[in-house]
Amino acid sequence: MVMAHKGMKISEDDWGTFMNYLRGTLEKFKVHDREKSDVTAFMESLKATMVE
Ligand code: HEM
Repeated sequence: MVMAHKGMKISEDDWGTFMNYLRGTLEKFKVHDREKSDVTAFMESLKATMVE
């Protein structure tokens, strides 16, 4: 993740947009709460390797 995203200047705002699309997608496909929070927690765990 660090190598793929380093230097791309991904901002807090970009990250928020990405997370909104992710949540919207999980909603659209009616993913259950347990799995929804597993997925968002995993994504959040990677945030620090991408957002500069
Ligand atoms: C947890 C969230 C994310 C994951 C798991 C993820 C995963 C990946 C992976 C696996 C790659 C391909 C690396 C490679 O094969 O070389 C990639 C590339 C890329 N990611 Fe992410 N990414 C995430 C978030 C983001 C965000 C938030 C942005 C920008 C807003 C972003 C922008 C990009 C761009 C521009 C590329 C390069 C595409 C290319 O060169 O073809 N990513 N990402």
